[in-house]
Amino acid sequence: MADTLTAPPAAPAPPTAVDEAALGPGHPLGETVIEVRNLSKVYRDFWGRKKVRALNALSLDVKRGEVFGLLGPNGSGKTTTLKMLLGLLFPTEGSIRILGKSATDVSKNEKIGYLPEESYLYRFLNAEETLDFYGRLFKMTKAQRRAKTDELLKLVKIEHARKRQLKEYSKGMTRRIGLAQALINDPEIVFLDEPTSGLDPNGRADVKDLILGLKAQGKTVVMCSHLLAEIEDVCDRIAILSGGELKLLGTVDELLRSRGETQIVTPELSPEALAEVQAVLAKHHVIAGVTQPKKTLEDLFLRTVSEAEARPGRTFSAQDLPGEVPPADDDLPGTTSAGIPPESADKV
Ligand SMILES: Nc1ncnc2c1ncn2[C@@H]1O[C@H](COP(=O)(O)OP(=O)(O)OP(=O)(O)O)[C@@H](O)[C@H]1O
Ligand SMILES: [Mg+2]
Repeated sequence: MADTLTAPPAAPAPPTAVDEAALGPGHPLGETVIEVRNLSKVYRDFWGRKKVRALNALSLDVKRGEVFGLLGPNGSGKTTTLKMLLGLLFPTEGSIRILGKSATDVSKNEKIGYLPEESYLYRFLNAEETLDFYGRLFKMTKAQRRAKTDELLKLVKIEHARKRQLKEYSKGMTRRIGLAQALINDPEIVFLDEPTSGLDPNGRADVKDLILGLKAQGKTVVMCSHLLAEIEDVCDRIAILSGGELKLLGTVDELLRSRGETQIVTPELSPEALAEVQAVLAKHHVIAGVTQPKKTLEDLFLRTVSEAEARPGRTFSAQDLPGEVPPADDDLPGTTSAGIPPESADKV
């Protein structure tokens, strides 16, 4: 049917809900493991006077097995949010439930891993000693600590430097040992604040694989990053914060789908085949193997942030950002990856 060619008009998701249909069938999402309601944080100065409202009325849910990305410009409240989820900061208002417990309940931390924005590792320990130290904090036996250390040093690819003191580590190597530390307790939920900062492209690819590996094991990952391509590749859903407020929330697939356009993906077509396709399009408006083209997450991010500045106090859905192509009135595709302009079908 021709109408299968056009993007279904997507209703904006309610602010906190996980659109499970958009995640695709069989997506291994479980119960809600993080529930944030109306969360606000005001930093105060030494005298208790209000200094900065870092977060304002944030509400969202994260499901088990999800990779969730928190995006936003510098100072938009991402790290503040993570720290409140971890119970390292007290909210000014609002509530957080993690694995059914309050964020301030320290017993939940046994099942949580955290890579902070800045490393807080002991510079005079080597990699093995570092992981052994954190293993002890989680009361792992000596044999468990040894096995886990070997596994994690291999995973983050710093086995060759296992005996070197961390003060001699490069920035990227420090990030890698930080990641290993975050996974020492085999956590159910992992919070990663800028996991690839300081990493080279290979290191970034390794971290991407590592996150996808965690997801494959059914772990939940919440991460902040300014590297949008990386977020786009690994995250199921994203939230974009600006000025401490949630501006956009949804699945990456849904948010990046270009509405009002149709993309036809085929192997390279011969001129004859292309002419036949055009003829068929013109005659029936029906074709197999059609997908919707994607815009980049970088583009979506930049437009959301600039719109947030231009129209303060608003929350957006993907459709009402400027530059969106409205859904087509008829079934004829607007553009195709095969380079068929809309008018050419009429000419056949
Ligand atoms: N300890 C603090 N005391 C006072 N203000 C703070 C404190 N920590 C953060 N802020 C302020 O809160 C706001 C949010 O900061 P936060 O670190 O959460 O931002 P972020 O989104 O993680 O930014 P970045 O991308 O630079 O890491 C900023 O205006 C920041 O200056
Ligand atoms: Mg931060």
